[in-house]
Amino acid sequence: MTTQPDRPLSGIDLREEIDRLRKERNAVILAHYYQKPELQDLADFVGDSLELSRKAAETDADVIAFCGVKFMADTAKILSPEKIVVLPDMEAGCSLEDSCPPDKFRAFREKHPDHIALTYINCSTEVKALSDVIVTSSSAETILEQIPDDQPIIFGPDRHLGGYLNRKFNRDMLLWPGVCIVHEAFSERELMKLKAEHPDAPIAAHPECPPHIIDHADHVGSTSSILQFAKTFQGDTLIVATEPHIIHQMEKALPEKTFLGAPGADGNCNCNICPYMALNTMEKLYLCLRDLEPRIEIEEGLRIKAKASLDKMLEMASGTIGKGDLGDPTGD
Ligand code: 13P
Ligand code: SF4
Repeated sequence: MTTQPDRPLSGIDLREEIDRLRKERNAVILAHYYQKPELQDLADFVGDSLELSRKAAETDADVIAFCGVKFMADTAKILSPEKIVVLPDMEAGCSLEDSCPPDKFRAFREKHPDHIALTYINCSTEVKALSDVIVTSSSAETILEQIPDDQPIIFGPDRHLGGYLNRKFNRDMLLWPGVCIVHEAFSERELMKLKAEHPDAPIAAHPECPPHIIDHADHVGSTSSILQFAKTFQGDTLIVATEPHIIHQMEKALPEKTFLGAPGADGNCNCNICPYMALNTMEKLYLCLRDLEPRIEIEEGLRIKAKASLDKMLEMASGTIGKGDLGDPTGD
């Protein structure tokens, strides 16, 4: 595994070089909303996990440079194996993926053979290969609604997203105990203080937040759904309980409004920046386009297994699969 150093490249106009290389390489640059503003601004497409998966599956570029975390770049490679997929920093992981080692997940599945595995996209390729259907935060509700009420389900690795879905749809999915360290860090006490200062400001929260934050939210949804809410809410101030780099898109779309990041325990919302997403920089993006490294490689047998659960998500998210049509609940 190669990690590009974050060293200053003197005398180089990084923006100009990135533009030149993306043409030369026939590369598409995809970025998640949690990326640094400068990376969002130069990307060909910025989106949530579902939108980025769709783009990665559809693009006719030769190279995908993924400004996001590793499971996102892995997803791009699983869906577009013939393309070169590069990630500016291979250390850009995710606490949810780390919480769910494939051998433990396999053992959990084996203990519950009558359950299907509905799995959040924030997991390793191996865990995707052990799952029946992948979901993102923007596709989870649509997909869950297509699964018969009496079908037992394992949901991993995010217990907060799973718990939110259980409460909203009156299900009792078995939850894997993983959390996102970013959303876990929001403080209810500090949020209430901020709300007291801005009593008319609605709160928009990501479903990766724990229930004590979700309970105060006026809107709960994926990053793209929170962004949509920001574009339509009545009022002049919005409190945003997700990774604060998404506020960049809100400020660009609605410069006259105020967007406040929900605070962590120390009252400083900077502690809610995703440390993994933050590893990607302009320098590293330039280097990975120049060197076509670090590159995502996935063994073909594993890729095919993981693709099956991702394909199911893409079908079910667009409603092209029938209720109960989930294949073998054992995941084999
Ligand atoms: P979405 O953009 O799909 O809502 O995902 C949020 C997230 O935490 C990605 O790591
Ligand atoms: Fe993982 Fe949370 Fe960072 Fe998303 S924000 S990549 S879920 S740690």
